[in-house]
Amino acid sequence: MAEDTLYSTGTVEEDFSFNDRVAEVFDDMLARSIPYYRTVIEGMAQLLACRLPAGSTLYDLGCATGTTLLELSRQLPAMDFQYIGIDNASAMLDKARSKSAMYGKTAVLEFRQDDITCCALPAANGIICNYTLQFLRPLTRQAFVRRLFEALPAGGVVILSEKTISHAGRLNRDFIDIYHGFKKKQGYSELEIAAKREALENVLIPFSLQENIALLQEAGFDEVETFFKWFNFTALIALKGL
Ligand SMILES: C[S@@+](CC[C@H](N)C(=O)[O-])C[C@H]1O[C@@H](n2cnc3c(N)ncnc32)[C@H](O)[C@@H]1O
Repeated sequence: MAEDTLYSTGTVEEDFSFNDRVAEVFDDMLARSIPYYRTVIEGMAQLLACRLPAGSTLYDLGCATGTTLLELSRQLPAMDFQYIGIDNASAMLDKARSKSAMYGKTAVLEFRQDDITCCALPAANGIICNYTLQFLRPLTRQAFVRRLFEALPAGGVVILSEKTISHAGRLNRDFIDIYHGFKKKQGYSELEIAAKREALENVLIPFSLQENIALLQEAGFDEVETFFKWFNFTALIALKGL
């Protein structure tokens, strides 16, 4: 796995984007930047096994290099799910396809290049959006979540993981400091952390946990629950009524 040194000089030439250079180091970046990434996927796998029938079709919107779907397919072999990952970055999808081939999963994992804000989601039973909604323009998020609701049958499931912000000002600063402590422990320097933060400033716009819950409830999901929270990182499950 190539090491993420993109911001090691501390200089920021442009806003962060999911370009070829990011795709090259993305798995290392994710492992060192998202706390409890694997734990969240494990929780997701347990919930999907509870909620969805065998043979279901599961979409991962903003699938990047396919890690989430690959892990789910390894953790849930008996569920016989069909997995479809969608992303608009071709370099990410190249990585996803080669990882899927390496693990012998091409029969169950499919990767499509498309725009998740408007692509069709035929036969979806479950839809995952893992640290991706935060990159969509805030004003488009409600319509996006409503589309997910409409694409699902009764009993369908959405899993939403996000970096969040807290409206409790002092605690929000504490949470951010604690997160930066996590990144330092992962080997990022203060300079790198500050540069990445600057590059993400207008690109990753976090909502609060309450705002994300409201998006899901407003779209029509009748059961919405947090299943993971670590300071400013959360994962939610939402169920469409029967
Ligand atoms: C932080 S990454 C997601 C990580 C991934 N879900 C995982 O768990 O490993 C966000 C991804 O969303 C994709 N993305 C952002 N906006 C998109 C859009 N409108 N259509 C398709 N993909 C999009 C980016 O290319 C990027 O790969």
